[in-house]
Amino acid sequence: MSQYVIAIDQGTTSSRAIVFDHSGNIVSTGQMEHEQIFPQAGWVEHNPIEIWDNVREVVGSALSKANLTRHDIAAVGITNQRETAVVWDKNTGQPIYNAIVWQDTRTQPIVDELARDGGAERFKQQVGLPLATYFSGTKIKWILDNVEGARAKAEAGDLIFGNTDCWVLWNLTGGVDGGVHATDVTNASRTMFMDLETLQWDQEILDAFGVPASMMPAIKSSSEVYGTVHTSQLLREVPVAGILGDQQAATFGQAAFQPGEAKNTYGTGCFLIFNTGEEIVHSKNGLLTTLGYKLGDAKPHYALEGSIAVTGSLIQWLRDNLNLISSAPEVEALAAGVENNGGVYIVPAFSGLFAPYWRADARGAIVGLTRFANKGHIARAALEATAFQTREVLDAVNADSGVPLTELKVDGGMVANEALMQFQADILGVPVVRPKVVETTALGAAYAAGLAVGFWKDLGELSANWGEDKRWEPQLPADEQERQLRLWKKAVTKSMDWVD
Ligand code: G3P
Repeated sequence: MSQYVIAIDQGTTSSRAIVFDHSGNIVSTGQMEHEQIFPQAGWVEHNPIEIWDNVREVVGSALSKANLTRHDIAAVGITNQRETAVVWDKNTGQPIYNAIVWQDTRTQPIVDELARDGGAERFKQQVGLPLATYFSGTKIKWILDNVEGARAKAEAGDLIFGNTDCWVLWNLTGGVDGGVHATDVTNASRTMFMDLETLQWDQEILDAFGVPASMMPAIKSSSEVYGTVHTSQLLREVPVAGILGDQQAATFGQAAFQPGEAKNTYGTGCFLIFNTGEEIVHSKNGLLTTLGYKLGDAKPHYALEGSIAVTGSLIQWLRDNLNLISSAPEVEALAAGVENNGGVYIVPAFSGLFAPYWRADARGAIVGLTRFANKGHIARAALEATAFQTREVLDAVNADSGVPLTELKVDGGMVANEALMQFQADILGVPVVRPKVVETTALGAAYAAGLAVGFWKDLGELSANWGEDKRWEPQLPADEQERQLRLWKKAVTKSMDWVD
């Protein structure tokens, strides 16, 4: 019997393939970054062909590093940056435009136009999301409105859409040679088009956006066999059996299966997901209602989500745009060189502000500068921005649920940063807990795929794999925590109402 499951994690900055064993431990990893394309201020694109090439490459390197062949792999799971929209011609396999990334804000005029009739919450009851540039819907509309000939081709049934899970699945299962055009409920719940109750595309909303239903993938559960890998690929005939959007995958990989459990993932952005079980909870505090997971024919699990657009990508910005550091981990040493933030606060509203504010008119702000401020203070303020934003999202979760979280499970790249984790616990006032396997995103996708093919038998087996690595207890006196939070909130007000 095959002893491993492989997860493909198609993320915002890189694509990875990770092989896991039955205990949920990492056996090998392949990783490649792809180009971030910024054609104009506010625009962010990826080349879908580059992404697919990288996916094949990283699968190959993960297998070869551990000397494995397809016979060792029981199933493939896919997880992905959500919302990023790819539109391609199903007859040629060619995208008609670059992928428009979730961070891209070019569709604000479309948002404003749709909101004119019924406001930003016009479709919130059905889909759990406010109208915002973040989600796939306005990105698809933009492509149809702006790429020459696109609308006619879409209406003729030649164009299809997918988030990058769907793009990878379609290519993996054969592309123009019978590729499976499907997605899972978690990704579908990020388009703006899926009804939370029926788990089907909502025709009225598609009509309001002018998107033909024929473009949309079939909506499947997060754990079932969607198809097998095409014979032209390294993993030929291995079942593709799990799909989860990356944040939902991380929640699954953290074994947060019970209502009331939550996790926060520190990647390019931060995403706090709170499991609400089989209940659809509509937020009164700026959170999204989203799908948590659906295992085969079982009932779906829902979640509340606090999405923060910019956390880790602020550190990349310090590296790439300001040349303040030469590699992201250097930020920790730079920040450690100063005693405190020196009164500096950075609000990284590069894509406006997401949860809990949803202010498209906000832009990044650095406030509190004096002649005293140096690059250490800037580095520190950048890290602290992650912790402050998470605190505001946690407050929203607590207000919505009525039962304050007593600890926060964390994962993602930035949780290696010990100083940040301590500051996070200080600003939250509750312990922060890091699991042994921090690659929970890929692990969650592997779990979903492995469950579908009987590699793992049930959720209990997955929960037993979870182990605590480290815990940070809050240490900051309450009055100091209060003071810092007050200043942060003041800084946030300075970032708003900036766009002309
Ligand atoms: O909603 C966007 C999110 O899915 C992106 O996650 O980890 O690729 O930045 P990440």
